[in-house]
Amino acid sequence: MNLEKADHDNGVVLRVEDIHKTYGKNEILKGVSFHIKKGETIVIIGASGSGKSTLLRCINQLTIPEKGRIWLEGEEVTHHMKEISHFRQRIGMVFQDFNLFDHLCAVRNVEIGLIKVKKMDKKQAREIAMEELRRVGLERQANQYPAQLSGGQKQRVSIARALAMNPTVMLFDEPTSALDPELIGEVLEVMRDLAMGGMTMVVVTHEMGFARSVANEIIFIEGGKILDQGTPHKLFTNPEHERTRQFICKIDELYGKTEK
Ligand SMILES: Nc1ncnc2c1ncn2[C@@H]1O[C@H](COP(=O)(O)OP(=O)(O)O)[C@@H](O)[C@H]1O
Ligand SMILES: [Mg+2]
Repeated sequence: MNLEKADHDNGVVLRVEDIHKTYGKNEILKGVSFHIKKGETIVIIGASGSGKSTLLRCINQLTIPEKGRIWLEGEEVTHHMKEISHFRQRIGMVFQDFNLFDHLCAVRNVEIGLIKVKKMDKKQAREIAMEELRRVGLERQANQYPAQLSGGQKQRVSIARALAMNPTVMLFDEPTSALDPELIGEVLEVMRDLAMGGMTMVVVTHEMGFARSVANEIIFIEGGKILDQGTPHKLFTNPEHERTRQFICKIDELYGKTEK
């Protein structure tokens, strides 16, 4: 049975195989492979500069890896002849710094992809956008501009914008790192609800409380490779490498006190 068919049959949504990425002389990713099944959440941890963002960027082809292959629902993302939007529409991305359009109010930020990319009519796009804002608890802020929203609200708009496109998988790149501590909880709660609702998610975060309670699997990246991976229980209690234990112990020190 070929991989495409096998992935389809086994519910594998995203498969990353042997990804290599070099910037200049620096080999950032030295062969990273993992896969995620429908409805699962994978949390990726690793020191700053270890290539976590690069890996997420390779998945939606914002960065092109020199080597390695990526499949989305059994369809190859790398080395394809299709328009890249064919894949990007199905990969929701949430960035650390929100990436909202400052000149558009919340609901316009959420609906714009539906209108411009999916060519949806304005009325239907507005309905979906309002529904997604409701889902993240921001219906009342629909007409406010990013400058009028708190960091936590901005990040929830950004999540609603990604969800509006009805993605197959959501990628989060340190979604709470730019937030004041008191605003982290509201964003994690939205993400937790999403995971519980069956969304497939890859989350780069050092919020260990979230990882412990939500992740099906934690991946620890070091030196451009996956050093350790497994259930939260395994990584917290019985990691393969001493380095993993040291890193997890130092997370609070490195990234500030995180939610437990
Ligand atoms: N566009 C780029 N050009 C050159 N170097 C880059 C680029 N993007 C990232 N890097 C380098 O790659 C390494 C990994 O970066 P990144 O993936 O952002 O790490 P992380 O997200 O784990 O902090 C860093 O040393 C960074 O400086
Ligand atoms: Mg990063």
